[in-house]
Amino acid sequence: MQNYCVCKRDIFFLIQIKVCGIFRKIRQLNCFSIFIFDVNNDRMRDKFLLWGSILVIFTWIVALLIRAHYWIPILLTAIYVLGIYNANQSKHAILRNFPVLGYFRYFFESISPEMQQYFIERETDGKPFPRNQRAAAYRRSKNLSDTVPFGTQLEINHRKYEGIKHSIYAKSPKEDLPRVWIGGEDCTQRYHASLFNISAMSFGALSDRAHISLNRGAKKGKFYHNTGEGGISPYHLEGGDLCWQIGTGYFGCRDEEGKFNPELFAKYASLPSVKMIEIKLSQGAKPGHGGVLPAVKNTPEIAKIRHVMPGMTIISPPSHSAFSDAAGLLHFVKQLRELSDGKPVGFKLCIGDTKEFEDICVQMNALKIYPDFITVDGAEGGTGAAPPEFSDGVGMPLEPALIFVNRTLKNYNLRDKLKIIASGKVLTSLDILRAVAMGADVCNNARGFMFALGCIQALRCNNNNCPTGVATQDKMLIKGLDVTDKAERVYHFHKNTLHTCNELIAAAGRESYDEVDASMFMRGDEFEHLSDHYFPDILGNVK
Ligand SMILES: Cc1cc2nc3c(=O)[nH]c(=O)nc-3n(C[C@H](O)[C@H](O)[C@H](O)COP(=O)(O)O)c2cc1C
Repeated sequence: MQNYCVCKRDIFFLIQIKVCGIFRKIRQLNCFSIFIFDVNNDRMRDKFLLWGSILVIFTWIVALLIRAHYWIPILLTAIYVLGIYNANQSKHAILRNFPVLGYFRYFFESISPEMQQYFIERETDGKPFPRNQRAAAYRRSKNLSDTVPFGTQLEINHRKYEGIKHSIYAKSPKEDLPRVWIGGEDCTQRYHASLFNISAMSFGALSDRAHISLNRGAKKGKFYHNTGEGGISPYHLEGGDLCWQIGTGYFGCRDEEGKFNPELFAKYASLPSVKMIEIKLSQGAKPGHGGVLPAVKNTPEIAKIRHVMPGMTIISPPSHSAFSDAAGLLHFVKQLRELSDGKPVGFKLCIGDTKEFEDICVQMNALKIYPDFITVDGAEGGTGAAPPEFSDGVGMPLEPALIFVNRTLKNYNLRDKLKIIASGKVLTSLDILRAVAMGADVCNNARGFMFALGCIQALRCNNNNCPTGVATQDKMLIKGLDVTDKAERVYHFHKNTLHTCNELIAAAGRESYDEVDASMFMRGDEFEHLSDHYFPDILGNVK
């Protein structure tokens, strides 16, 4: 009897092993992936496919047995088929990843203006980008009408309000989108840049499909795509112009010890797509803190491109090992320009200690070495991952920084030697013109182009769970991002934003971007002074 029990247990055990082996084999085959359920994977799509099929089969069996209530399995089958369709379509990332539950997002999104109006927030309240700005970016990228009904929702009498002074003699907007030459005397391969470009974001911070879409959009719209400090990946090479960023980790041009490698640099700098080179000194969202690639996003592929170990958090050093003072920085600029055969070389920084910037200007005049551009990044700028204290409490915002850099360059007679590029919440056409009025020649934007890719400001760039497949390395989520559709959106976002810039300039009666200056703008605090002037506080005169 005892023997029999043991034998029975063994048979069950053997069957169990056999079944597991068959499942493992099916999974290894990896074909018909839609029907293979990874029970260890907690993704919504897999759960849906597994439990959905069980439920559908179960309800059909019950309905057939009791010969009644056929509508229940029919309804569930229809929902299940819709789910399978959604999991395979490429237009909506959310539905692809959440085949049925995704509809709740669209439902709540569709009633969110009402919900917000009644219960939560107003159109102008979201952070870091209010809903109305995100909506404008979405409409522009989808090439839909970007008109709004019923008038402004801004408090235009508030002292922080900013607007443009229009002219009675408004002009017709120009069709050509604005471009700017970048490259000084020592530069033999000057670059004709668009006024508006994609700011630095690495492959690692963003997914492969996000970069392919950005690069294809940049190619079609003839603007540049900054690689970010993570090096040049194959996904940056879809034919769009590149600004190659070199950070303190020298990813893509580093030796075994993480130091700058001139040979590797020269190899990549000679790529025809590389039009400019940017040395990253600091970034507005985390100045003085090196770049951060969280371990979950450090895949073997990314590690290979960066020449680092996969699976560990990569923190770039806070400063460069190739130089340690202003003169060293300028010699490095010169070295990179020579190694790249005369391509424009500049540096990106967030202003902190203003004396250090003045010191760079002094050294430029002393050494007669001039960068071709300086990118000024405001503390309000975005990031994939940063310690909150650095995002919230370090660095100068864009407006004072830009005014300071522009004035200091003028004071040192350097303004005509180089171009200023501005970034940090330069999202709308009004933002671009404000930056130009404060001294920028060119503007870069990161998060606006993320909106064009479908980013919903879920604020999950740092934990690999970005639901739209933009700021993640999770293959399941990336699958939802269709490059053909998103490349078109990137192209339209750029084009429509600059077209509105042209319209605003024309409304202000100006012919060109050279005529954009601070006199074109008005601010709410001026209105307060005007009101005080015409309607003095008469109570003050009552004795
Ligand atoms: C996801 C993400 C990744 C970024 N990666 C980099 C980077 O690699 N190097 C860098 O200099 N700046 C990086 N930035 C900052 C932007 O290039 C830019 O300086 C800043 O976001 C400007 O703010 P904006 O998003 O309002 O345009 C990143 C920003 C985001 C949102």
